[in-house]
Amino acid sequence: MTLSYAQSLDGSISARAGEPLTISGPESLVLTHRLRACHDCILVGIGTVLSDNPRLNVRLVEGKSPRPIILDSRLRLPANSNIFSHNGASPLVITRENPDKRRAQTLTDAGATVLEVPANARGQISLTSMIGLLAEMGVQSVMVEGGSRVITSFLMARLADYIVLTVVPVLVGGLRAVSDLNQSDPGCFLRIRNLGHEWLGEDLIVWGSLL
Ligand SMILES: NC(=O)c1ccc[n+]([C@@H]2O[C@H](COP(=O)([O-])OP(=O)(O)OC[C@H]3O[C@@H](n4cnc5c(N)ncnc54)[C@H](OP(=O)(O)O)[C@@H]3O)[C@@H](O)[C@H]2O)c1
Repeated sequence: MTLSYAQSLDGSISARAGEPLTISGPESLVLTHRLRACHDCILVGIGTVLSDNPRLNVRLVEGKSPRPIILDSRLRLPANSNIFSHNGASPLVITRENPDKRRAQTLTDAGATVLEVPANARGQISLTSMIGLLAEMGVQSVMVEGGSRVITSFLMARLADYIVLTVVPVLVGGLRAVSDLNQSDPGCFLRIRNLGHEWLGEDLIVWGSLL
C-alpha cells in the first residue's frame, strides 16, 4: 500500500472539503502519473469522486492505468463518473454488506464490479478485510490517493507501507490531509523511516517507509 497525495506546507489537501484543488506543479504531477503506472490499483474515497470527478488514469507518462477502487459504503458513485469513461479497467466499488440492490445493479450495468466487505467496529468498511479480498483477487499493489478521511483511515489502521508526499510551498489553511489519529503517546507516533527527499520544480517530494 502506497499512500500518495499533494499537500500545502500547512498540511492542506484542498481549500475546503468537497472542493477540488490542484496545487502540484507540472513536474510532480508527472511523478504522480509514474507512481500510478507502478501500481495494480488506485484507491480513493467517494468524497473525492463526488468533489473532483477524477479520471485516475495514467496520461502524462507511458504506462498502464491502475484499476480504480472507490470506497463507497452507500453506493453514491454516479454512474456517469469519469472513472467509467477514462479508465480502461472496470472500477471496483467497495461497499458494505447488503447494499441497495438497485444502486448496485446500476453501477454494475455501468461497468463497475461491486464488492461487499464487512464493516469494522466503527461501522466503516473494514480496510483489513478489503485488503484480504484484494489479495485473493491477485492485487499486489494499491496506491491510495485520498481524500482526507481515507488517508486518515489508512494511517489509523496502520495499513500504509510507504508514503510519497508532494509538499507544495503554499499555505492554504484548508482541509487537513490527516485528521485525528488519536495518538497521545509520542513514543507511538507514526514514524516515517528511510526518509528520502527531492525537489521537483518548486515542490518538495518526501518519501519513506511506514512499516
Ligand atoms: N491533494 C490531493 O492529493 C488530494 C487527493 C484526493 C482528494 N483530495 C481532496 O480531498 C477532499 C475529499 O476528501 P474527503 O475526506 O471529503 O473524502 P474521501 O476521503 O475521498 O472519502 C471519504 C468517504 O469515503 C467513504 N468511506 C468508506 N469507507 C471508508 C473508510 N474505511 N475510511 C474512510 N472513508 C470511507 C465514506 O463515505 P460513505 O460513508 O458514504 O461510504 C467517507 O465519507 C476533496 O476536497 C478532494 O479534492 C485531495
